[in-house]
Amino acid sequence: MLYPPQRYLVTSALPYANGPLHIGHLAGAYLPADIYVRFLRLMGKDVVWVCGSDEHGAAITIKAIKENRTPQDIIDQYHDLFKVAFEKMGIDFDIYHRTSAEIHHETSQEFFRTLHAKGEFIEKESEQYYDETAKQFLADRYIKGTCPKCSNPGAYGDQCENCGSTLSPTELIDPTSTLSGSTPQLKKTTHWYLPLDKYETWLKEWINTGIHNGHQLHDPKEWKNHVTGQCKSWLDGGLQPRSMTRDLDWGVDVPQEIEGAEGKKLYVWMDAPIGYISATKQWAKDNGKDWKTYWQDEDTALIHFIGKDNIVFHCLIFPAILNAHGGYILPKNVPANQFVNLEGDKISTSRNWAVWVNEYVEDLPGKEDELRYHMIKNMPEQRDSEFTWKGYQDSINNELVNNLANFVNRVVVLTHKYYDGVVPAFDPNEVFVSPSSEDYDGFHETEILQLHDDLQEVNEYIRNFEFRAALTHLMKISSQGNQLLQFNEPWKQIKVEPETVKAVMNLAIQVVTAISVVIYPFLPFTSARMRSLLKLSEINGDGELDALLVQLSEGELAIPAGHQIDKAVHLFSRVDDEVIETQKAKLGSSKEKETSTVAPVVAKEKKEEKETIEYNDFVKMDIKVATITHAEAVPKTDKLLKLQLDVAGEERTVVSGIAEHYKPEDIIGRQVSLLANLAPRKLRGVVSQGMILMAEDNDGKLSFVAPDVAVASGSVIS
Ligand code: MF3
Ligand code: ZN
Repeated sequence: MLYPPQRYLVTSALPYANGPLHIGHLAGAYLPADIYVRFLRLMGKDVVWVCGSDEHGAAITIKAIKENRTPQDIIDQYHDLFKVAFEKMGIDFDIYHRTSAEIHHETSQEFFRTLHAKGEFIEKESEQYYDETAKQFLADRYIKGTCPKCSNPGAYGDQCENCGSTLSPTELIDPTSTLSGSTPQLKKTTHWYLPLDKYETWLKEWINTGIHNGHQLHDPKEWKNHVTGQCKSWLDGGLQPRSMTRDLDWGVDVPQEIEGAEGKKLYVWMDAPIGYISATKQWAKDNGKDWKTYWQDEDTALIHFIGKDNIVFHCLIFPAILNAHGGYILPKNVPANQFVNLEGDKISTSRNWAVWVNEYVEDLPGKEDELRYHMIKNMPEQRDSEFTWKGYQDSINNELVNNLANFVNRVVVLTHKYYDGVVPAFDPNEVFVSPSSEDYDGFHETEILQLHDDLQEVNEYIRNFEFRAALTHLMKISSQGNQLLQFNEPWKQIKVEPETVKAVMNLAIQVVTAISVVIYPFLPFTSARMRSLLKLSEINGDGELDALLVQLSEGELAIPAGHQIDKAVHLFSRVDDEVIETQKAKLGSSKEKETSTVAPVVAKEKKEEKETIEYNDFVKMDIKVATITHAEAVPKTDKLLKLQLDVAGEERTVVSGIAEHYKPEDIIGRQVSLLANLAPRKLRGVVSQGMILMAEDNDGKLSFVAPDVAVASGSVIS
């Protein structure tokens, strides 16, 4: 592969059309891909992004049976729902296809035919459960029974959801068919297996070194650790032949000319990833392009965006299928995400513990970018993350409103006030206070170069799939814009130094303009609003960022002096407590009533997840080891003790709320952690000079946080 690649093919996991989309899906496979694709387009790259509904698999037929509907009815319902949800959220695929399409059936059959003809399958007879009443073989999911490991009576043939064990149907005790309720019988059946063990060595080399057929296809260092880690653990465990067919009546038919094909369908994990290819074919057809350049030309970078439960399929099984077929490229990266938890608990469809995207866009119309912002900020890139409504509210009120909207609004209002909305010309020799450099003095030109470097840094993060860090850096550009105004106080200086104010205001408008471009991948609706405010053409992913970077690197302005801008609009508005309360009240509601025999699941009390801070925020705290030299109760209180502490010879008085947990006489001589530079506070008439750090468990029990061996008092904790 040439570097950089000539074109990109980006895929997002095809969602199962058997349930609506929630915020976990959004943050897992769709938002990150949307950011990445919009970014590539901003940089002028050739990119196609495909997705679609996954409309086969046992889960869909089971739902159809349960609800007494046809599978077709179910998939149509969810396919339409997905399209609305994605479109509303600005998730802008080049094609949103579906696996029930004719072209998909043909494409996946062609794969099966080719692998069969090349002798890549092994045919194997085995015994599987058959339902005599329903007259069909049972997919693993259709069989329920008692788990041999934990005795849960509701385990499925493939997995026990109580203890998490992977099972095979014959391990279940007292199996019953969920189709008819009868006891299934074992019956002989033949299937085609892909001998994954045969590909083990090849897969190991490709995953570990990025080398395939002597070509360096990717740099393994660019893959996320948790992705490579999962692959390695599968490979170390040894791969087994995996059946690529099923006895089902819903799915892609095994090509009928193959002997024994009757009644057999492709395994859903064989056909679904091929859905990426059929979607690309349809897109190419619709747009007069050649799909083969995207799938068969080595200078294409294929990137799969998925959730972590799909890693084995995208990193091992699908590559093995592509390799067995021949002529196809392999993924260059699979930047899988982990899961999002909600208010301290796992997201669960059956318990209605989820924020549904379709409901969100109806309940909070016009707040799509706000959700995008908060989800990107908490994207589970390396580990599971947490969504709370309080966190959502804080992100909007503290960051989008107080930082970004405030900055843009101030710039626009002042430009109208001083210059009738025209970008002012300025003298390049004017000096002002710089928010970004260590030097006190700022010059317009150096600040423009700094702006270039900041945009470049956002780029680097996106290129590395570090979307959280990219967004943080973007918001830093906005904070610095605010500081530029704060430090130079145009509202005061306009009377005294009007020429300096022109340079400052011009720069501030340049910063707003740069943000309107670089924010496009993250918050596309906001980008459009900012562009209209600036009376500049809308960003549509046509190399605009690439062009801007060139301009800024040459010291050229992003928006020229003399340009007229529009009147101020509010980019974001505050979210009230009421909105948050309403949304929280919805959680876990409706579905619980339906299943009233099941005790409602209450989210565990959990402390609010705190937002990410910079290292600089942490080092502001002076935390030291202190030794308690004296302790006494504070009169007329139940909770407070007055402590004397020794901190490297210095004596401190601290009032601490630990009287219900420790007796004064028991703690003399104990070492504790002291936040030493907390501003002094008066508590019950005593001045407290710092705060003791305590650990609090779920029952509210407090205990000291102390070094595990005695250390000199005054030792620094960092
Ligand atoms: N439908 C699967 C899921 O939701 C994902 C399929 S991804 C594909 O987990 F590659 F198979 F399409
Ligand atoms: Zn179990």
